[in-house]
Amino acid sequence: MTRLTLIPSMLQKISLGTSTISNNTSIYLSRKGYGDEIPTLTLNQRMLWRRKDNMKVLVACEFSGIVRDAFIAKGHDAISCDLLPTERPGAHYQGDVRDILGNGFDLMIAHPPCTYLSNAGARFMYPKGILNQEGLDIALKAKEFFMELYNTDIKQICIENPIPTKIIGLPKYSQKIEPYYFGDMVQKKTCLWLKNLPLLTYKKPNYKPESTKLAGNWFNKGGKDRQKNRAKTFPGIAAAMAEQWGRL
Ligand SMILES: C[S@@+](CC[C@H](N)C(=O)[O-])C[C@H]1O[C@@H](n2cnc3c(N)ncnc32)[C@H](O)[C@@H]1O
Repeated sequence: MTRLTLIPSMLQKISLGTSTISNNTSIYLSRKGYGDEIPTLTLNQRMLWRRKDNMKVLVACEFSGIVRDAFIAKGHDAISCDLLPTERPGAHYQGDVRDILGNGFDLMIAHPPCTYLSNAGARFMYPKGILNQEGLDIALKAKEFFMELYNTDIKQICIENPIPTKIIGLPKYSQKIEPYYFGDMVQKKTCLWLKNLPLLTYKKPNYKPESTKLAGNWFNKGGKDRQKNRAKTFPGIAAAMAEQWGRL
């Protein structure tokens, strides 16, 4: 890996991705902590280094790298962040996303944990139909994290989660979509809370794939990886986000 100190005259010669400059020297953009591999750049230089149409994107609470890589494929400077390591190589910060929220991102797409916020999660609060204080406290903590992301100082924000349970009192979502609207043959109601972003557009197909509620289908299989597999963002939705929001 070659390390570079970038000077302004070099800036416009850089194309993004696994970046190349005119003399074919390669710089490696993938890094663990944002900017780890290019410590010689000041924040101002890093801002200059971005092309005008290149966005700095944070994909919060993502271990799969699916949304991150969809934005990178469109030429953006995207990084994922999760308490878990990234499943595939790429720019990833492993740790608490709150550590890096203030790094000058243009857009954040966040997938905070939904176990205690969703309709399905309501069962933790009402085992045997009676409100359980411990379950409620956990859900309120999850809401606090959700709201911290929702209210963070980043201009464009999308938070993705399943349909929330009413008792938790999350703000109203902006849009409800399904993976099969975007080419993945799956039903899974997905809500998006949007700030300064347009609704995703799609062409609704005239078929409905199998429900995730059916016993024995992909959603209900997978052994120890079942939960992780169920949590991953569908590639069609990721591609639509990068395509539609990456050109704003
Ligand atoms: C529902 S999963 C989302 C997975 C995502 N859709 C993907 O494709 O990788 C929620 C993720 O949030 C992560 N998480 C929870 N608290 C976090 C925090 N404070 N900072 C960063 N990630 C966090 C969890 O580790 C978990 O992987």
